[in-house]
Parts: sequence; C-alpha cells; structure tokens
Amino acid sequence: MPASRRGSGSITLPTGQTLAFHSHTRSSEDDDLPHATKKKMADHLRKYEALFTLTPQRMRMIVEAFKESLETGLAKNEQIVPMIPTYVFGWPSGNETGDYLAVDLGGTNLRVCLVTLQGGGKFEITQSKYRLSEEQKQEDGQKLFDFCAECLKAFIDSYIDDGTIKAGTRLPLGFTFSYPCAQKSIDHGQLIRWTKGFGAPNTEGHDVVEMFRRSLEKQNVPAEIVALTCDTTGTLIASHYVNPKTRIACIFGTGCNAAYMERVGDIPKIKHLGIPDDEEMAINCEWGAFDSFEHENLPRTKYDQIIDETSNKPGEQAFEKLISGRYLGEILRLIICELIDEGVLFLGQNTYKIEIPYSFDTAFLSLMESDPTDELLMIIGIFSHFFALETTLAERQFFRALAKLVGRRAARLSACGIAAIVSKKGYLEEGCMVGADGSLYNKYPGFAERIHEGLHDIFGEKGRNVVTYHAEDGSGIGSAIVAAMTKQRKLAGRYPDL
Ligand code: GLC
Repeated sequence: MPASRRGSGSITLPTGQTLAFHSHTRSSEDDDLPHATKKKMADHLRKYEALFTLTPQRMRMIVEAFKESLETGLAKNEQIVPMIPTYVFGWPSGNETGDYLAVDLGGTNLRVCLVTLQGGGKFEITQSKYRLSEEQKQEDGQKLFDFCAECLKAFIDSYIDDGTIKAGTRLPLGFTFSYPCAQKSIDHGQLIRWTKGFGAPNTEGHDVVEMFRRSLEKQNVPAEIVALTCDTTGTLIASHYVNPKTRIACIFGTGCNAAYMERVGDIPKIKHLGIPDDEEMAINCEWGAFDSFEHENLPRTKYDQIIDETSNKPGEQAFEKLISGRYLGEILRLIICELIDEGVLFLGQNTYKIEIPYSFDTAFLSLMESDPTDELLMIIGIFSHFFALETTLAERQFFRALAKLVGRRAARLSACGIAAIVSKKGYLEEGCMVGADGSLYNKYPGFAERIHEGLHDIFGEKGRNVVTYHAEDGSGIGSAIVAAMTKQRKLAGRYPDL
C-alpha cells in the first residue's frame, strides 16, 4: 500500500458553484497505478519550457512587426489587423448624464443594463446576465438578435413594473457588439467575421444594427439604438470617464483586443471624409487578428496549430488563439493528451473525459496556479472530479508548471500588443494607464504582473511607466457614455455630418 493522507478543499467551478471535495492523496510515486516518475516529468517540462518561453529579444521583434501591422491597418481598408475607425470622437468630458440602456453581446454572455450617468465621473448600473448556449452561437443570426430583443424587453418590463422606468418612455440604447464590424457611422456596423467560436449564419457581411433594430421593432421594445460599440472602445471611454490618464483599453477574456484614441490625420484611410486632422477618433484595433493567415511573426507550437486547424475559422485570429481564455485550457489539454498518447501519463486509467475537445476550462489553469496547498489538493480535485483521473504529486507539480508556461506566454504576448501601441503613440516617456478587463485579466492569478514584467523586458526600466489597471465596465457604462456623447453631438448639430 502506498503511503497516503486524506486531503480536502473546495473549488469554485466556472459556473460559479462551489464544490467541496475530500480526496485520498498519494505522497509517494510507487502506488498501484503506473505513474510517471519525477525525473521523467522534469524532462518533459524542459521540452515545454523551450517551446513556450518568450525571450525579451523575441518580444521586441514581435512588437516591431505588430507596429507595422497597426500602421498598415490605419492606411488601408481590409487589412489583417483592421484598425476600425469607430466614430467615437474624442474623450468623454466626465459630465455626460442621463439614463441609458445597454445591451452587450459578448463572447460568453448576453448582458442587459440600465445605466444612469450622474456626471462628475459617477454612475449607477443595474443589470441582468444570460448565458449563451453553444447552439445559439451557431443559429441563424436574426434569431440571435431576436433573443437579445426578448431579454431586453423582459428587463425593461420589470423596471416599468417597479417604477424605475416610466411607462411610455423610449430610452436610448448603446449596443455593445464585440466582434469586428466595419463602421460607416456610430450607428452602423457591418460584421466582418465572427470570432470567439460564433458562427451564426446570415450575419457576416450584414449591418448588425439594422438586424437588431428589426428584432426590437418586431417585439415592440421601447428602445432606440443610438450607438454601436465594441467592448474595447467602451472600456476605453468608461475608463477615461473615471480615470482621465487612461490612453489604451484592452480586453483579455474569451477574446482579446485593444482600443486607443488616434489623431484623425494619422488615419489615412478615412482622409476622404474631410474630418479635421486634429480631431481624435477611437480605433478598435481588433488586434486578435495579428499575424492571421501568414503566421510569420508569432511563435506557434503544434498545439496552437491544432487549435487553429480544428477551429471554425482556420487561419484567423492568430494572436487571439495564443492568448484568450477561450483557448488556453485547450492548449494545456492538448499537451496532456499528447503525453497520454506517448504513454507517459495516466497509464491504466480511463482517459476518455479529458480527451473531449475543450473539456479543460481555462478557469482550471487559474485554479491550478493558485492552489495554496503543498499536496496541490485543488489539482487533485480538478482531475478526479472532472476527469475521473488520479494524479501523483509529481504529475500535479508538472501540470501546475505547464499552466504557468501557457499563462505566462499569453501575458507576455499581451505585453507585446500593448507595447506596439505605446511605442506607435510615443507614450513611453510620459507613461500611460491601460484600462484592462476580461476574465483572464481579472481572475487569472498574476496575469497583470506578468504583463508588467513583459513590458519591462521589452522597454527596460521605462516599461514601468506603462501601468495596466482593472478597467470600468466598458460594455455597460462605456456603451452608455458613448450613447450620451452621440446625443450631445446630435444636439450640437454635429451629427450625422461627422
Ligand atoms: C474578439 C472580438 C473583439 C473583442 C474581443 C474581446 O477579439 O473580435 O471585437 O473586442 O474578442 O471581447
């Protein structure tokens, strides 16, 4: 009989549930199942370290290529990194006020919000959240918008019933649609392509504002879409509303993207619009597409290639596929499966559960990295509860080290993207704040620190002048502020004539 101890702990599942567990932990490697030895695991780890580690020099090369892509996207339409002009002109004053609805169709959830902007950088928000099923992401696009309209209607009705919203009012609505859309104005956006695993037919190439408006009319929803924004643009505006030092906003969640404010004169592709050069416009970079199709600049491993090739959009979103929460768990799972196939891991155990694609949630990586126990009880819990697999301490240490490699690479690549914007805009000397949001940034232990470490590796000491912080809720509050800014432009007679 192997030496053993009883362990217990609890895990918070991706669904928010808490799971308590008691497990039989093995403290030696000579148990009744043929497990890999410590030495063997250490050898394997070295191999993965070489694959997933990014040197400062390599990062600087990526930053240079990234900067070029940003410039190309600003110069011409239909480039790999689209650099989308958003028709959000300049920063908010902080004194925007009023009641607004916000609908946020993100990567994982649909959220509807009622936002009251109180001026002076203050606001109140109430919201309801609905989880989107995998089927809904693939159903006909109009049906998806009908669902958004239905949820919004139910939300408004509940606030009419309790007197918060006066019956008969038609509230302005900010629509946060976080997928790349080519915009001709603030209330128009043609979907370039779905990202983050969405594939709803009859939507790419269509104006999503028009589609959503149709759904709202069909169901008599008393709301008027005044602005379409992406979560990053919303985050940029909302963060600046409360922290005027903000220059860049990033999302590190199911997807990964950034927005910043650009001088119109430096956006050659919209020169024909005749907007004065010194006006500023927010740019939704859609940087998740960096290096797509060509794959010339990013260090892709064979696991990244498998993810890409088996995705619903092969070749696309190359940068995002190395970074975002939708994929990190899958990268780790593919490595584990490779070691199962090589006969290194889980010999004699039934591994069918972990062989299911996307069964290894990115939240598990966060949990594994933050396991505070010597025995790594959290990791025991994850493997035994979700995959019916027994692990030794040596294996658990290996899994934790792997999670660290994958998570660290994601954060360091994120730093490259931020560095490209910082360097392009010349923000390094003066320094700047970067509002960041998304599950990875908010929940993955050490993600922000690793970005900062990456910025230091790229820029040296001056890299410390660039500081990320947890942003305001861009898709709710940001969307409402953009709607308020649009209203002000309309009142000042500067709309729709830019
Ligand atoms: C994907 C989307 C982008 C969004 C990001 C974060 O990259 O294409 O629009 O901002 O995910 O949600």
